[in-house]
Amino acid sequence: GGHTGCCIVVREASTSTNFLLSVLLHLNPLLAYSLKNCAVFPSYDVWDIFVTCADRDLTSIPDDIPENTLSLDLDTNQILTVNRTDLRGLSKLLYLHMECNAMSHIDDRAFEDLVHLRDLLLGSNTLTTVTEDMFQGLFRLENLSLEKNQIQYISPKAFQPLTRLQKVNLCYNRLHQLTEIVPILQLPNLRELVAGMNRFSSFETDDLPFNKSSLKILWFNGNPLRKFSVTKDVFPYLEFLDLSKCVPGFEWDVKENNFLRSLKGLYLSGTEVSFEMYRTIFQSAFAVEYIWLSSIKEWLNIGLIKFVCQMPSLTRLNLTLNNIYTLNATLLQPCSQITELVLSSNAMTNLSEKSLRPLNRLEELYLDNNFLHRVPVAVRGLSKLIVLDLSFNDIGELGCFDFLNLTSLLNLFLQRNRISVLRGCAFKDLKELTELNIESNPVYTMHDTFTVSLRKLFILNMNMNGFQGLRKGDFKVLPSLQALYLQSLMICSVENGTFYGLHHLITLALSAYTVNRDIFRGMPNLKNLTLYLPASGNSLSHQFNEDPPFVFLPFLTSLTIYNSNKKSIVISPNLLCGLQYLEEFTAVTFFTETPHTDTFTYTPRLTSLQITNSHVTNLKPELFQPLTNLQALDLPKNKLRSLNFLTRANLSALIWLNLRDNELTMINETILQSLPALTYLDLSGNPLTCDCLSIGFIEWVKNNNQTQVVNAYQYDCYFPPSKQGTKLLDFDVQSCKMELNFLCFISSACLVVLTLITSFMYHFLRWQIVYACCLFLAFLYDSRNRRKGFPHLYDAFISYNVNDEAWVYREMLPALEGEQGWRLCLHHRDFQPGKPIIENIMDAIYSSRKTICVISWNYLQSEWCSKEFQMASFRLFDEQKDVLILLFLEEIPAQQLSPYYRMRKLVKKRTYLSWPKAGQHTGVFWQSVRRALETEDAPEEDSNLLTAGRAP
Ligand SMILES: *[C@@H]1O[C@H](CO)[C@@H](O)[C@H](O)[C@H]1NC(C)=O
Ligand SMILES: *[C@@H]1O[C@H](CO)[C@@H](O)[C@H](O)[C@H]1NC(C)=O
Ligand SMILES: *[C@@H]1O[C@H](CO)[C@@H](O)[C@H](O)[C@H]1NC(C)=O
Ligand SMILES: *[C@@H]1O[C@H](CO)[C@@H](O)[C@H](O)[C@H]1NC(C)=O
Ligand SMILES: *[C@@H]1O[C@H](CO)[C@@H](O)[C@H](O)[C@H]1NC(C)=O
Repeated sequence: GGHTGCCIVVREASTSTNFLLSVLLHLNPLLAYSLKNCAVFPSYDVWDIFVTCADRDLTSIPDDIPENTLSLDLDTNQILTVNRTDLRGLSKLLYLHMECNAMSHIDDRAFEDLVHLRDLLLGSNTLTTVTEDMFQGLFRLENLSLEKNQIQYISPKAFQPLTRLQKVNLCYNRLHQLTEIVPILQLPNLRELVAGMNRFSSFETDDLPFNKSSLKILWFNGNPLRKFSVTKDVFPYLEFLDLSKCVPGFEWDVKENNFLRSLKGLYLSGTEVSFEMYRTIFQSAFAVEYIWLSSIKEWLNIGLIKFVCQMPSLTRLNLTLNNIYTLNATLLQPCSQITELVLSSNAMTNLSEKSLRPLNRLEELYLDNNFLHRVPVAVRGLSKLIVLDLSFNDIGELGCFDFLNLTSLLNLFLQRNRISVLRGCAFKDLKELTELNIESNPVYTMHDTFTVSLRKLFILNMNMNGFQGLRKGDFKVLPSLQALYLQSLMICSVENGTFYGLHHLITLALSAYTVNRDIFRGMPNLKNLTLYLPASGNSLSHQFNEDPPFVFLPFLTSLTIYNSNKKSIVISPNLLCGLQYLEEFTAVTFFTETPHTDTFTYTPRLTSLQITNSHVTNLKPELFQPLTNLQALDLPKNKLRSLNFLTRANLSALIWLNLRDNELTMINETILQSLPALTYLDLSGNPLTCDCLSIGFIEWVKNNNQTQVVNAYQYDCYFPPSKQGTKLLDFDVQSCKMELNFLCFISSACLVVLTLITSFMYHFLRWQIVYACCLFLAFLYDSRNRRKGFPHLYDAFISYNVNDEAWVYREMLPALEGEQGWRLCLHHRDFQPGKPIIENIMDAIYSSRKTICVISWNYLQSEWCSKEFQMASFRLFDEQKDVLILLFLEEIPAQQLSPYYRMRKLVKKRTYLSWPKAGQHTGVFWQSVRRALETEDAPEEDSNLLTAGRAP
């Protein structure tokens, strides 16, 4: 490793979906539930869970952390302190991360219950002292970080309980006495101490009141060191010592060479000591194998390298950042034993032809981040070389002799150069090459690149190059290839047979413009395919032939398609035909409409399905029925308005459901209960409704002990507008229960009567009865109001399903109220609270000139909406006025309307309009609505007057 052990906050594996998913997919459904401020991720072990509360502006530790938590991440908050009750009972905790908070104080014994804790990270806070009882109870702690605090004082007893501690990080603090860290150096299991960037002015073993430390790695860089002295044999195990950037010149005093007999690595970059002092150091550190000497250019010039290379065990030399513009023939003359040489970041333009000649044992050579224009002649003939890194240079082309005699080379890195022409002859001696990276070069043709056989090449990375096409047989001489990366920004045509001969290929990333099955011939064992469909400026759209494109890839397990093109793609239902082993399918911006219901009939083993950022609106249960093994379903950034498809989708193995950023307004908890294995549900970013109809869902979120609704306590209310700015789970459930109880009473009374009558008349007069009732009610009401001469308060009453509320508020209100100036009556906004719903509906219909029914699948399934519809259509008959406007949000075939035969009749006769499909212009549509609203109330039989869309 490099210098990074110190002072760089290395965040734990970020909580990326894929990581979590892979965790999730290997476990039984288990206890996981919604926390107020945190998200829970189950681990492989059935009873253990990971909790993350990172980056949420918390000021104290949440009080609902489950007791079986294994890992707790509280990084990046505003937590001020840890008190004795905050972490009580978390005895299973192994990892506790509290970096980047505002803690200036931690209570004594605050961690006492954490008897299993192994990792405690408290970096980037403002602690000033480590108190005597701070770490009581942490018997099993192995790794402690206190970096980037303001610690000046450590109590001598603070570390006593930590007998298992192996690594302590104290860098970037304000310590200045070695005595402060004596208790740490005495810990029986200590391996690594990071004490750089403090204020220590000396490191003298005379100050250490003990005989032996188990320390192996000591970072002591960046201290204002005046003296480093080892006068007794206290560090017999010390292997690595970092004294870099200890400015200015310090005194090195090691009494006997034997004291540093284990020292293998010495970091002296940027350390300014005298030439003589350097010599002294190199003489006493006789066992050193690896030395870092960055930023010491001047000493190199006057011959320091001679003394460095006299160290008998030295094999690895790091000379980065020394401004060695040209490496001359003599500099490395004394270093014939070196096997690894790092000359990165030296602004080097040239290496003299003979400069590496003496290094005949060289195995690894790093020349990256320089200004080389060509592959240096000096590398030719390094027959033992295994790794050659020439990345981040200015190399423009490769010549036939550039890699002459590099017969042992395994890894060649050429990424980020300016190579435009690749000639196959360059690789002719690289018989052993296993990895070749030519990413991010302007190579414009692949043709004739691989003419000599690279029999052992495993990995070829040619991402981000400039070639426009791939031709038949381009890779035929690379028979062992297992991973091939060909992502590119250019439009790429791929000839049939391009991949002939790649029998061992497992992973392929490819940008392609037209995709047909013949381009995938020749690599029958491919398992992972990532397909990029690049953006194109012209009017062509991507082509997916009608033939199933992937039939020649029978063992594919993972397929990912990214589309960057705005144009829509015609995707045939047999897209996935032949992929019977497919386990993961990811499609980003690929589907431009809801996938065909047959799409997944070919992939029964699918466990993970992700369709992101597509225009998916209305999923059918049939789509999922073949997917009996589906465990993770990710549908973020779509336009879903309803989850009804889940009820019959039969997803009995589904664990993970991500519905972020859709248009769901109402969640029906009974639908979610139909998913028996669901433990993880994400509904963030949906415009949720907070009213009495939501209480079932709210209570389910809070009380169910199987499914965690991630971040549920942070979900905002979008509807009704009066609730905006409040949180869904803060909704006052009690106020609805009053109303509900009353409703229950009334409706059960009605039910009794109705059941009596209905059962009586069911066989004869089913529908007629219902209508008669409604008509009668409406008639009564109507005559009452007519007597009163009821004025029209509104231009239109909008009847819609709550799942379509987002559309109504986002699309309809701005157009009709905002631009066209109509007054609309909306259920949520304008209904009078306290009035019975039926009465409210009737009021609304009769005090509006027209009734607009927003018709969608949801609408047809909702009872109230069809009541509204029925009453409005009654008014139509009653008054012989054209009061009804039907807006079809979705394509609904006429035969599907048959249960709603009244509607069907109306559709045939009356005013209807269809919302344009995604991408089409909506202006014409709203103009048609305006005309419909403007028409007088005269009866117009059979007036198919507005046909802005197709006939349903
Ligand atoms: C060489 O040292 C630099 C720091 O001076 C470090 O970043 C780099 O990783 C080292 N290179 C190798 C190959 O160890
Ligand atoms: C610890 O802090 C929490 C809030 O962070 C508080 O509720 C509790 O009373 C405190 N306990 C003690 C012992 O101070
Ligand atoms: C090679 O370079 C080193 C330092 O860069 C210098 O001391 C030495 O004199 C040079 N040798 C020749 C032959 O130029
Ligand atoms: C390459 O190898 C050949 C034969 O082994 C040898 O004759 C030739 O001198 C070598 N070239 C270099 C530059 O090492
Ligand atoms: C490549 O295959 C496709 C689809 O099978 C076919 O239509 C096309 O003609 C083939 N192209 C060539 C050059 O063979």
